[in-house]
Amino acid sequence: VTSPLGAGHPAIESVRWAPGGRAVRIIDQRRLPGEYVERDLATLEEVCDAIRTLAVRGAPAIGICAAMGLVVAAERDDTPGGATSARVAELARAIAATRPTAVNLTWALDRVSRRAAGPEGDPARMLAAMRAEATAILEEDRASCRAIGEAGLSLLAEGSRVLTHCNAGALATGGIGTALAPLYLAAAQGLRVEAIATETRPLLQGSRLTAWELGRAGIPATLVTDSMVSSLMAAGDVDLCLVGADRIAANGDVANKIGTYGLAVLARYHGIPFHVAAPWSTIAPGTATGADIRIEERDAAEVVSLGGVRTAPDGIRVRNPAFDVTPAALVTSIITDRGVLVPPYHFGPGT
Ligand code: MRU
Repeated sequence: VTSPLGAGHPAIESVRWAPGGRAVRIIDQRRLPGEYVERDLATLEEVCDAIRTLAVRGAPAIGICAAMGLVVAAERDDTPGGATSARVAELARAIAATRPTAVNLTWALDRVSRRAAGPEGDPARMLAAMRAEATAILEEDRASCRAIGEAGLSLLAEGSRVLTHCNAGALATGGIGTALAPLYLAAAQGLRVEAIATETRPLLQGSRLTAWELGRAGIPATLVTDSMVSSLMAAGDVDLCLVGADRIAANGDVANKIGTYGLAVLARYHGIPFHVAAPWSTIAPGTATGADIRIEERDAAEVVSLGGVRTAPDGIRVRNPAFDVTPAALVTSIITDRGVLVPPYHFGPGT
């Protein structure tokens, strides 16, 4: 795996097979930016825990991790005679239950599970087919990221100041990211582009992860807290917004990290283009509109403390939706691995 920036910039591999293939190796994103630690997930429980606690996160990365994790869990399964397709379906349901919003999770699990249905009665063949599918999902995502980067390059010019939210970079995918992919490719071509990264409360994916990976690649980035965006836009300091997605409904409504909707409203008010970058695997033709997207509510503890320090009084009521829905009408374009789409968006069955 090579970095788009060439030698001296080792690529980030957020999810891959551990040597020997008996575990899924992830970068533990809970420890960044303080420490770079890799972890091997060798059991169903470890895979589920890593996804639930955001050790691995970002829609494409959790899909890949789930796919590989299902293979690892099926291989270790102690059903006499080896895991059956029914058992694989059970393992897949356990992994799918970890997080509800990103469609890539169930999409990837379904792909691997379908390969378990074919060679019934031949566990070795079944497991080999599942492993090949999980590997294909990783490799396809790498290629998708690059294709998104190439398609998104057309939106950038010398000096572009690109506001991004959460982390839709290499850490969130199997490749060079979605929203950050055009920035990486622009930098590789010598185009001077700048990122503005929002902190992304409550879990700080912008400051902990986006700032870390852009800094590592030498791409100029400025960190702001979420509430600073409106005044930056009013001052003319943002040229375009570029964010990722966790699920895109058939009508083009986009679920992404909480706060994305507010950024889109602000962008519209200030006349700033608002682009979403996502692989085709994030499009959910079976989800009619944003109203049909289940939004994950996470633990209140994430809101009442910061870095382990309590920042709110005991007993305060808390809401903690992890994602929101940006109506399609606010989305200037959706940059995919199959090109740049503009409204009206219609993703029908068979898309
Ligand atoms: O809760 P997270 O960190 O998994 O949320 C991630 C996002 O919202 C990303 O923007 C999205 O998954 C796209 S990642 C290419």
